[in-house]
Parts: sequence; C-alpha cells; structure tokens
Amino acid sequence: MNKLLFFLVTCLSSFPVFAQRKTISQRVDSVLRLMTLDEKIGQLNQYSGDWEHTGPITKDGDKQNQIRNGQLGSMLNVMGVEHTREIQKMAMQSRLKIPLLFGQDVIHGFRTTFPIPLGQAASWDLKAIESAERIAATEAAASGIHWSFAPMVDIARDARWGRVMEGSGEDTYLGSLIAAARVKGFQGKGIGNTDAVIACVKHFAAYGAAIGGRDYNSVDMSLNTLWQYYLPPFKAALDAGAGSIMNSFNSLNGIPATANKYLVRNILKDQWKFKGIVVSDWGSVGGIARHGYAADNKEAALAAILAGCDMDMESRCYKDNLAQLVKEGKVNISLVDDAVKRILTKKFELGLFDDPYKFSNTEREAAQKFVPAHIEAARDLAKKSIVLLQNNGKVLPLSKSVGSLALIGPFIKAVRDNLGFWSIEWPDDSSTIITQYDGIKNKVSPATQLLYAKGCNINDRDTSGFAAAVESAKAADVVIMSVGEARDMSGEAKSRSNLHLPGVQQELIKAIVGTGKPVVLLINAGRPLVFSPEMDKANSLLYTWWLGSQAGNAIGDVLFGDYNPAGKLPISFPRTEGQEPIYYNHLNTGHAAASDTIAFYVTGYIDLRNSPKYPFGYGLSYSTFSYSELLLETKEMRKNEQIHISVTVTNTGNFDGEETVQLYIRDMAASIARPVKELKGLQKIFLKKGDSKRVSFVLSEADLKFYNDQLKYVSEPGEFKVFVGTNSDDVKEGSFRLL
Ligand code: GLC
Repeated sequence: MNKLLFFLVTCLSSFPVFAQRKTISQRVDSVLRLMTLDEKIGQLNQYSGDWEHTGPITKDGDKQNQIRNGQLGSMLNVMGVEHTREIQKMAMQSRLKIPLLFGQDVIHGFRTTFPIPLGQAASWDLKAIESAERIAATEAAASGIHWSFAPMVDIARDARWGRVMEGSGEDTYLGSLIAAARVKGFQGKGIGNTDAVIACVKHFAAYGAAIGGRDYNSVDMSLNTLWQYYLPPFKAALDAGAGSIMNSFNSLNGIPATANKYLVRNILKDQWKFKGIVVSDWGSVGGIARHGYAADNKEAALAAILAGCDMDMESRCYKDNLAQLVKEGKVNISLVDDAVKRILTKKFELGLFDDPYKFSNTEREAAQKFVPAHIEAARDLAKKSIVLLQNNGKVLPLSKSVGSLALIGPFIKAVRDNLGFWSIEWPDDSSTIITQYDGIKNKVSPATQLLYAKGCNINDRDTSGFAAAVESAKAADVVIMSVGEARDMSGEAKSRSNLHLPGVQQELIKAIVGTGKPVVLLINAGRPLVFSPEMDKANSLLYTWWLGSQAGNAIGDVLFGDYNPAGKLPISFPRTEGQEPIYYNHLNTGHAAASDTIAFYVTGYIDLRNSPKYPFGYGLSYSTFSYSELLLETKEMRKNEQIHISVTVTNTGNFDGEETVQLYIRDMAASIARPVKELKGLQKIFLKKGDSKRVSFVLSEADLKFYNDQLKYVSEPGEFKVFVGTNSDDVKEGSFRLL
C-alpha cells in the first residue's frame, strides 16, 4: 500500500496543478541565482524612450543591444502596444529573458485628460479622484504601461514653484487623503490585473519646500517639519499599498535625497519596512556629484546604492560603476541583490515572467480609446474642480437664452492649453478636447449671438486685438473672458518670480472692464496667480485651473447653472509674490497680529496686510450656506475617549448645492508650538435650497497627536480649540480640554 501511495503522490506532484506553486519570493530567488553581476546591474538600469519628454534625452545608439544583452531592466516614455511589444521582444532575446518594466508619467490621465492634480484637489472629492486614477490606470495598462510615476504628493506652500500644479496643495491632511485615493485608483484590485499599474509615490522627499520656490533648489528644514507636514502623505500612499517610490531632485539639509540614507534607508526601508522599488528621478543619481556630495559618478553610484536607491533612471551611473564598486569591495553584493529582488518581485507580481506581452494587447488598447464613460468622468471631475471666487451682482449663473455674449481672451478657443503640463499628446486627440468656446456654444440657445474676439495672445506684448475685443464687449449683453497661463508656464522647471497673468492679458481685462458691461472672468492656470485690481473689478471670477479634455463642457455646466460650483481652494492665494510662502497652518509667533490690518511690532509687512487674497478651503457657491454655533458633547476628553462636534448647516440661497464642511483644530499650548489651525476633517454635503443638515465630526486622541521635539508622535493634555466652517478663515469656534 505505501508503495502505491508513494507512486501516486510522485506522479500527481509532477502535474503543475498539484505541484506546490513556488511563491514569488522563491521564483525571484531562483532567477537571481542564475544572474551574472552584469545582468543584476542591468536590472537597476532604466532608460527613456527616444523623445524629449521630461528631461534631456541621452541619444544612445546601442540602447537596443543593451536590452538584448540584459543590461536594461526598465524603460520609460515608451507607450502603446506596438512599441512596448517591439521592445519587449528585444528583452526576450536576452540570456535569461527577463521582461522589461515600462513606466510613464500618468499624472492626470492617459488618453482621457483630467484636470491637473491641484485642480482635482479643489474638488475635495476623494471618490472622484480615485475614479479618475482608476480610469487612467485602465487606459495606460491597455497601452503597455506597467508603472505610473504618480501620485506626486509633495506638500507645496509656495506658488512660485511650478510643480505646485502636480500635487494636492498645502495641507498635509487633505494631501494624505488624496495620496491614498490616487494609489487605490492606480492599483485597483491589485498589481497584476490588466487594468492596474504600479503606483510610484513622489518625490521623496520635501521637494515642494525648495528655497525661493525655485525648482530643484535646496531644501533646509527641521526634522520636525519634515515629519509633521511633508512625510505623512508618503506614509498614507505606502499604507494604501503603493508599489514604488521616487527620490526627489533636491538636497535635504545638505544631502541629496537620492543619496540620503536617513530618508531612504532609515525611514523608508527600516522604519516603514517598504519592500517596493525605489527609483531615482531623472538623472538624480548623477546629480549627487553635481550637488557636490560626490566627487564623480562612481562615488555618486556608491552613495545612491548605499542609501537604498534601487533603480537608476537615465544617469547610467549604476551601469558604468556598480560592477567595479562590487569588485573593489565597496558595495556588498547583498545591496545589489536586494535591489534586484525588489524589481524582479514587481515583474513577477505583474505576471510578466508568465507572459511578457500581457499588457500589450491590441484589442484592449483599441477598446480604451475615447470611452464615453471616461469622458463623462473627466467632465464630472472638471466641473467639481472649478472654484467660484467672486460673483458680484449674481451675474452667474447665466441664462441659456441670453441675447448676446462676447467671448474674449486667448483661452476661449485654446485647445491643448486646456490640458495643462504633464498631459500626454496623442496625434488623434485634438478633436476630443472641448474648447471653452464650444462648451459655451453647446449650452446657449441657437438665438444667442456669440461675439468672439481673442483680444490678445497669452504671453506677448501685442495689443492690436484690443479694439475689436472692446467693440465685441460693447455690443454684447454679457462678457465672458478667459485668460491664464500657457500650459508650459507651470510644471517642472517652470518656477515664476512674477505670478501675474502673462503678456498683456491684465491690460486687456482693464479695457474690457472699462466698458461697464457685466464681466465673467475665467482664470486658467497651474498655480495660484496674483490678481491685478482690474481682475477684482470683474463681476464674477471662476478659477478653472487647467481642466483637461472636457474643459469646455465643464465650464459650460457651471456658467449656465447646470452645475452649482462647489470647489474649495487646496492652497492659499497670495496678494503678492512677496507673501510667498503663505499657508493657513502657520504658527502664531510671539507677535501675532490682532487683526488683519497693518500694524507695527507684530509679524507682518509694513506695506501689506497679512491675510492671503483667498484662504485655504475658500470657494463660493451660487447658493449661500449658514452655520449654527458648534455643539460639543463634552468639554473634556480623556485619551481613550472621543469628542463629538456637530453643527447645523442651512442652504439659505436660491440654488440646491454642495458644501464642503471643514473641521480644524488648534492645540493652544504644547511642548512644541502648534499651528493656529490644522485641518482634521471634511464632509461634503448636498443641500436643497432651504434645507438644513446636522453635520457631526468625531475627534479622538489620534487626531490630536503631533511630532514633539524628540520626534515622538504624541498627544499632550491641555486646551484645544475646534473650528468648523466653509473655509479656513470663516469658521464657528468651540473648545475642549484633553485630560
Ligand atoms: C522628471 C520628473 C519626475 C518624472 C521623471 C520621469 O524629471 O521630476 O516627476 O517622473 O522625470 O519623467
């Protein structure tokens, strides 16, 4: 009997379905054992495809031979089933046939372009943001992409920094919620599904605090600020399962992030136990020498691998130096093996060893082009991203049967400028971008006369179009002006010292406002702009960011009341550049101004009020909302208890509408000075006109914690203020004690 049993078990175990499938870790180890040192280093090497996309390209003729020789582990800027399949075939000619990873900057959409991330953040709609990334991942994964270099989660408090457009603004709490939502959207049901991509959280870390708002500039900050404000969105993204993270270009306290052991080895890999891929930013391994932290690329490679950077994007420092460093005993092969295993693990998780062409499927790619549901989602998120800043005389919403509209400004008929920076160009997509002119035309009655006059360009000194524009304004019932930044005026390497509208757009606004006609002003930009006095004289101001493929329809929905705007600013708007960096969650100082007036011997300027032009969380509606006084269930709370706070919000206007109710706290006295406000809750509610709703929040000890001066995450007894309101400035106040 035993012999029969042994025979049966032996036979059966030879069938794959019964053989104990190896775990991914076992499969990774079995490949690693076969690899030469050169092949291992090849996996740590990533090149871009051959076009200028996000950085100077190194033209390297034998790139394809390097792929065939197993000297490359990944590529970026290679898109489409055809191209990815073609290049993957080269990898299959290598000795071990290790498939390539294809990465892409899918920052706010792939085929369907959504509003820029800063605009999306203005929606405060986490579900809509997650859905947008779900769609982006589905479209990208159908076109051969395995890996998205997003979400960018850099907290940004300085609008001079061009990459503020790419993140979620100034607040850590909102930024952390959005970071997690984006990762869930990208990775969906998990890496390996053909509608999911690996998320890559970037840029680690504190990139948004570049001195002077100058991109790539040094960052100097206390570790307390780093932990309190800049790291939490990364942790939230990793807790949501992000499979990779990208080093930032900047140095942090004198040490380049790519070589920063404290950031990558200590915090990320040791404390946070991160097991995914750490990829450098474009050439940032080589940048370590340029920072003056290494004498040459060999020392730079040494610093980066020791710090925990697994993959070298485009610098070739690993390819050219790592083998020698291992042979010299300066780099233990275990460090190389750890990096290789992280990369191979993701390739196994994606299923690429079983099918290298799994994501290169022509039918799936074709099915993901111009999907109506995706287009509808883009329109939905675009309209939710629009922020109503002013509506004097209630000029908005406009009637669809208005007699005549003058449509003036360089953005009225702009096409690609609606897509903003980091949008992906497709040869056949212009027809799918809805211009603001068409969006308005789609809304009004056939009898409405549209008088179009461009008036000026975005960024030159030509005023020859002013006269015709003024004539159009004079002839119309209402003027709609659309102005802003060109799509390459915010984004990477796009820091600005002057945050005004470029060119002669301000002068054009002055001429049009001077006609005395009702003026609705649409402002399209990748960042907060500084407003000229003439802009304030427009009746209505709508901040439309760069809204993506459906810009025109979304703007039409809002202008004509098919959607009541509900956007709230995720970043403070300065009165002048001189106020930057400006943010709501600042410390009180020992000389706090008693009111928003110019005074002496208080923290402020002698020539300008302290308050921002528009505060964090600000955004109007066509309706109005009133808030009752706060009701706190108790006035004292022990650490294991909770505080229940409620407020009644009433729609006191004439339109049904959405309101984002915001909850802030202030720790009045602690072992380290705490901000005058910190966002700790938000609730989006919909109220029909005249209706009221009781909105409740619950605070627990976890919400009151902070990093003390020993970097311990603690709560401390004492008085807390709590604020609930429609923005960070306009709030109802209460207080309680933590015992
Ligand atoms: C860029 C950006 C980074 C991007 C990478 C690849 O320089 O800093 O965000 O993912 O290069 O394009």
